[in-house]
Amino acid sequence: MTDLLGDDGPSAGLSDVAVFDRRLPDTPLGNAIRLLLLQVPIARDDATAALGRDGLDALLTTGLAHEDGDRIAMRGRIVPAEGLLMSFDGFAVGHDDPHGYVASYTPTASWLAALTPRRRFGRALDIGTGSGAQALLAARHSEHVIATDLNPRAVAFTALNASLNGIDNLEVRLGSLFEPVAGETFDLITCNAPYVVSPEDRWQYRDAAGFEADQLSQTVVTEVPKHLNQNGFGCMLVSWLAESDEDPDVRVDQWLQDNGCDAWVLGLSGADPLDHAAGWNEHLSVDAEVYGAALDKWTAYFEELGVGWITEGAVLLHKRPGEVHMIRTDPVDEDELEYAGDQVERVFRALERVAGIDDPVELLDERLALVEDARIQQSAGEEGATVILEEGTWHELEVDDETVDVLVELDGRATLAEAIDRARVPRRRSTLADIQELLELGMLDLRS
Ligand SMILES: C[S@@+](CC[C@H](N)C(=O)[O-])C[C@H]1O[C@@H](n2cnc3c(N)ncnc32)[C@H](O)[C@@H]1O
Repeated sequence: MTDLLGDDGPSAGLSDVAVFDRRLPDTPLGNAIRLLLLQVPIARDDATAALGRDGLDALLTTGLAHEDGDRIAMRGRIVPAEGLLMSFDGFAVGHDDPHGYVASYTPTASWLAALTPRRRFGRALDIGTGSGAQALLAARHSEHVIATDLNPRAVAFTALNASLNGIDNLEVRLGSLFEPVAGETFDLITCNAPYVVSPEDRWQYRDAAGFEADQLSQTVVTEVPKHLNQNGFGCMLVSWLAESDEDPDVRVDQWLQDNGCDAWVLGLSGADPLDHAAGWNEHLSVDAEVYGAALDKWTAYFEELGVGWITEGAVLLHKRPGEVHMIRTDPVDEDELEYAGDQVERVFRALERVAGIDDPVELLDERLALVEDARIQQSAGEEGATVILEEGTWHELEVDDETVDVLVELDGRATLAEAIDRARVPRRRSTLADIQELLELGMLDLRS
């Protein structure tokens, strides 16, 4: 498909359809893409030639497609993403999309997928599975996956997508949040929650209906640790409210106390109520009056709650034994985010190591190494350097020349103390603090 439509083909939006339709050749492959991806009706004979008689029968039997005179038209779409075929509802048309609309492989789905560790797991759980994206991805590296959703159409799409990809270790269950898995525990839990705080119950995939303010997110963040096995990971996209942007993370910090997990909180975006309302009601902006009324309704809701700032972000958890656990919070640029699962595991190894230490001096005996994708960028004539992680979250840290001298000596065999001696620099607190920061961001790896 990318040969025909380019890299943007799979993420085609409604506004691309007319152009892509004209770019496609009149061949069986062109017609398959036209029908399944672009949702453009095609002649029955062309559909049979493109998909085979069995393929077309399957589409009609599941109801994904229907006959419209002598043409075949799709009710939903089938799109390649992350090496899988995923079906979901057709292109969003805005306010008229039904309450139970099942969304495509959205940008938020891809961010959560990027932040999920991909080591082998035993039991995995995906809460609010939608079309099953996180569950299907987990099924590739887990023994058994349970996917739950409140929306019967979502679990139907997920079951269909499992079949479509020949995945037989995925089980779907209907129900709200953790109800379908009461008393069960898992090694991996993912949840791209319907985290949008709003005064509405317009769409199940968006609005946290039945929950006031950010309570759905709070429930997810506080319940996941109870359902994790030791050494299990929880990966969630949620949102949290604050009085203002001066101290935006107070609530999520409270939710994470005494839960037996280290936590890495990544703020993806923050907005005041008006910007938040504008972003989530953009589909109404063609009608100034309706749009204005929605903005007023949403901002009045936040005023009543005493909320001046809304953060949307990822909460990543690693459960482990021990008395002291760490909470680390960083911003991340969603546009730069790439596969970060290995980095996430390094961050949690680092958080486990630094938990309870009062001083980075305690790291002197550790053997450390810069990870392969960390680059030290120095500019001629300027002091210091920037260490850039060219993968995952693409974090950066400014460091001084002495820290650079130590970093080049960290080869995974020398201890930090030996590397400092070899670099002939003083054991400054600032150097050790930078080393700890690079370790906690997953730019340095523990080799001890
Ligand atoms: C943002 S979508 C995420 C879909 C999918 N997991 C992904 O990553 O693309 C949120 C999903 O949560 C579901 N949902 C909403 N309220 C729920 C609840 N109380 N319990 C379980 N699922 C719920 C919606 O039906 C929707 O499928």
